[in-house]
Amino acid sequence: MQKDFLALTDWKRQDLERMFELTRELKEKQKRGEPHRLLEGKTLAMLFEKSSTRTRVSFEVGMFQLGGHALFLSSGTTQMGRGEPIKDTGRVMSRYCDGIMIRTFSQQLVEELAQWSDIPVINGLTDMYHPCQLMADLFTVFEHKGERFDQLSYCWIGDGNNMANSWINAAAVFGFELRVATPDGYRPDAEVVKRAEELGAKVLYTSDPAEAAAGAHVLNTDVWASMGQEQEQKEREQAFAGYQINDKLVAAADPDCIVLHCLPAHRDEEITDSVIEGPHSVVFDEAENRMHVQKAIMATLMGNR
Ligand code: CP
Ligand code: NVA
Repeated sequence: MQKDFLALTDWKRQDLERMFELTRELKEKQKRGEPHRLLEGKTLAMLFEKSSTRTRVSFEVGMFQLGGHALFLSSGTTQMGRGEPIKDTGRVMSRYCDGIMIRTFSQQLVEELAQWSDIPVINGLTDMYHPCQLMADLFTVFEHKGERFDQLSYCWIGDGNNMANSWINAAAVFGFELRVATPDGYRPDAEVVKRAEELGAKVLYTSDPAEAAAGAHVLNTDVWASMGQEQEQKEREQAFAGYQINDKLVAAADPDCIVLHCLPAHRDEEITDSVIEGPHSVVFDEAENRMHVQKAIMATLMGNR
């Protein structure tokens, strides 16, 4: 088993499926009010170089429910912001804590942190990947669609960003069919695409949202400008016009389709208010499941479950 949770493709399918089983167990226990203090006395350091609502709260509350403690650390208020090398931060954190969750820009920095830390490192989002979100998304699909999980067809509409890259990785690991529709200049990372192909992933890349959505069981999108790209908002609004999940696109998908969005959403940009508030949307189950899957990830990495 891996020490760290940095990208889905680092992991074997059966180990991720074991995490889903543990997620189910922990979610049921939490709903029944049964204690499940698998990380009693353990501490998670949470390093943030970007904003967050869900990731911060779900990790912190999840750690509390597991009997442990979580520390919120931002680059602006630690020595990281003043240029202390990540390899020093990793070695120091390893002397105090039992795990690190980091949200930052560079995937390489997260890999370096993991290399220099004796304790598990969890990727809480980089410009390249958002693997915890993918685990929550797949668990949500499983809850709504059951055992057919890997036989469904999935589509991604919008930016070829960290979430799109993560979905491509998930398609490589779980073998489901994925169709990705992005404007030409905004395709997913070329290395991610290449590696997924080598792993036998069944992914179709197109610039036509209707082609991607046709008959799909799961529709998926994300903001047009991610954190760090705010200054590109205006040009992106032009490039992505037509890449919106709206009622017309949902009507082209499977009649029982579900719609995912990692949130935060920009209503009436990448997704209409009518879709996000409509009968196909499962976005708040998805947000809730962040906490349940992350508890399973932490218990697996930090508690040897
Ligand atoms: N989906 C997600 O990661 O949300 P936050 O940015 O609020 O953490
Ligand atoms: N792609 C978005 C995801 C936010 C959870 C971003 O990186 O800002």
